[in-house]
Amino acid sequence: MENQTLDFIYHRRSIRAYKPTPLTQKQIASMIQAAQSAPSSNFLQCSTIIRITDSDKRKKLAHYSGDQNYIYQAPEFWVFCADFNRHFQIDATIPLERAEQLLVGCIDTALMAQNTVIAAQSLGLGTVFIGGLRNNISEVTQLLALPKYVIPLFGLCIGYPDQEPEMKPRLPSELIFFENQYQPINQTLLAQYDEQIENYYQTRSSNQKEGGWSNKIAETIYKGQREFILNYLHQQGWVKQ
Ligand SMILES: Cc1cc2nc3c(=O)[nH]c(=O)nc-3n(C[C@H](O)[C@H](O)[C@H](O)COP(=O)(O)O)c2cc1C
Repeated sequence: MENQTLDFIYHRRSIRAYKPTPLTQKQIASMIQAAQSAPSSNFLQCSTIIRITDSDKRKKLAHYSGDQNYIYQAPEFWVFCADFNRHFQIDATIPLERAEQLLVGCIDTALMAQNTVIAAQSLGLGTVFIGGLRNNISEVTQLLALPKYVIPLFGLCIGYPDQEPEMKPRLPSELIFFENQYQPINQTLLAQYDEQIENYYQTRSSNQKEGGWSNKIAETIYKGQREFILNYLHQQGWVKQ
């Protein structure tokens, strides 16, 4: 072990089965504090978290996210939103429709969310992000009464893990960490990684499947196109210029 913080970070993996044990108010407060300790672009603080305690809303969100039942099963489910409505309430004359606002909102909210994940991990809890809620983003927006300039980016299930999934091997660091300039992909390393992932998929304890990493990219990207997102963004007041 290098140190406890790195140990928590290195051992995080997505948890998709939870014990019913509820979280304490103290645990929830600690995660909120960790979330708010994240840096914020220009100190705009343009993220909002919505905790879903209403079981009917939870069921609907699970359904909207492609019937991922751990959303309903997890003791906590939080929706992370990029939010410039707060700023709009403070000053309705500010321009909020630039593409840059989308980047700022997504970056801040992701940083906040990952702080929440690491805090959860340090409290002995497990998590999984739920981008699936963007499958039905308009319905989610309506269900949570999100006004203009607020978009739900992803959810987060939180609770005590009821499974011990294997760690998913990542790309070799040489493929993602360069010095001074971009580098073309190293095919030898990629082939080795594909073999490693193939072995991981075939030997992991659940949801075993065939194939490596690179041959799934096209399938994954085509499947997750959500071509309605641009219209949705326009409706919520985002990215008009
Ligand atoms: C923004 C985001 C959205 C995600 N959405 C989902 C989701 O809807 N359902 C799910 O089961 N996992 C989801 N995941 C988890 C990824 O599948 C997971 O992080 C990835 O396969 C790597 O596995 P690991 O987290 O166990 O290391 C999401 C992850 C991220 C970062």
